[in-house]
Amino acid sequence: MRTRLAAILACALTLSLVSAASAQAAAAPPAVALGSVIPAPVEVRAHGSAFRLTARTVIEAPQSARAVADRLAEAVHTATGHRPAIVRHAPAHAPAITLAAGRTAPEGYRLSVSRSGITIRSGGNAGLFNGVQTLRQLLPLRAPFTVAGGEIADQPRFAYRGAFLDLARHFHTPAEVKRYIDEISQFKVNYLHLHLSDDQGWRIQIDSWPRLTSVGGASGTGVDGVGGGFLTKADYRELVRYAAARYVTIVPEIDMPGHVNAAQVAYPELTCDGVAPPPRTDTAVGYSSLCIGQETTYRFVEDVIRELAALTPGPFLHIGGDEAHATSEADYIAFQQRVIPLVAKYGKQAYGWNEITKAPASHTAVAQNWSSSTTNPTLAAAVAAGTKVIMSPANLTYLDMKYDPSTRLGLSWAGYIEVRTAYDWDPGTHVTGVPESAVLGVEAPLWSETLRSIEDIEFMAFPRLAAIAELGWSPSRDWESFRTRLGAYGPRWTARGVGFYPSPQIDWTS
Ligand code: ACM
Repeated sequence: MRTRLAAILACALTLSLVSAASAQAAAAPPAVALGSVIPAPVEVRAHGSAFRLTARTVIEAPQSARAVADRLAEAVHTATGHRPAIVRHAPAHAPAITLAAGRTAPEGYRLSVSRSGITIRSGGNAGLFNGVQTLRQLLPLRAPFTVAGGEIADQPRFAYRGAFLDLARHFHTPAEVKRYIDEISQFKVNYLHLHLSDDQGWRIQIDSWPRLTSVGGASGTGVDGVGGGFLTKADYRELVRYAAARYVTIVPEIDMPGHVNAAQVAYPELTCDGVAPPPRTDTAVGYSSLCIGQETTYRFVEDVIRELAALTPGPFLHIGGDEAHATSEADYIAFQQRVIPLVAKYGKQAYGWNEITKAPASHTAVAQNWSSSTTNPTLAAAVAAGTKVIMSPANLTYLDMKYDPSTRLGLSWAGYIEVRTAYDWDPGTHVTGVPESAVLGVEAPLWSETLRSIEDIEFMAFPRLAAIAELGWSPSRDWESFRTRLGAYGPRWTARGVGFYPSPQIDWTS
């Protein structure tokens, strides 16, 4: 009898403890689940007690990781209103976020959270930075700033995870490009490809050919004549520096031998008849070509490559090569056979749209596969001979394609791309004869024919860029998991003023 009574009392006590705990849980928002991160981490083990970030929290980091610690302090300040001090050695018992050395894959990190602190370890600063990006997503949007206990072990599937902006069809200012870098780097995107020249405009200062920008970047250039402007070399160096501080490498592109009308307007000697063509502000493609048999062409190309390579700390220099419909096949191959080695002469690896694989010299190059087809025998043959590939199939990764027929911005020539379409494919098996071992990674191009402002850019890029970033980083994909994590991410964009597309495929948390 006494035993039964004791059992009843014990049960009542347990119930009252449970209800007290649930009342507390209702008052404070729960910590973000440890695995609720985009891109999905490789391994997540939730266990132990949570860490509460407060005004007492400090950041402990070696001098070698000071720049990453600065980024972390800035992120914590933005998220919580409190800027933690950065110290070499945290006082005993001080709650700390520690950045430390550890053995990991390149760009990988391990993050552990316990009641006493958070530690991010990596073999390098890029990995520490990636761990910081994960931690940012684990911080709740509102106080209390509790981070769930446990461990994450993470590393990228592909070394190249790229975004792309077209500055030629409409010029986007350095401030806009920086804002894009801020956003993409939160998804561990580590390359930003800038399309710097096209038929409608030339957007990068080249000292040896100054009319490229004084004419080709003047006001009135760009689609509809409303996208003028260009980057000075000082602007460009500042963008390279800003990106590098966020572990993003800028890849410059000069598109040739097609897409060169703006250059030919500025320098008629780049045409075969020496006559300047009229400036173009429409969106047609495939009508312009450099004069392949003329030496002036190669003097121009080498000058541009030399000056761009000198501005580029990264390994790649993109030479375009797409839609050269006004260049004969023989001329196209002759041109690439001369130009691909020129890129190597200035210490960079040539990178071009997949058409460059028609030229045998492309075996040393990187081909960006923008074709929507899953078979491409020319690309497959080049891969067998050594060409590496970045996957950017237009029907899956082009962020300028409309989401559906009602999308106000964008084009639809490669189809409509809803979030699931952008997410549900595998870059490692997508094209026959292009095995994962040949794929350096993925890139999501955003062409600017219809885009003017940063708001336009963000509406088309987000949320799809998050999907492509996950394909580039995470070892496997799971649509249901992604759509849940994406739905939970929406308020973070809203809090930063990013006007993303509220896809009906996602249950957005408000
Ligand atoms: C391309 O979309 N023309 C590369």
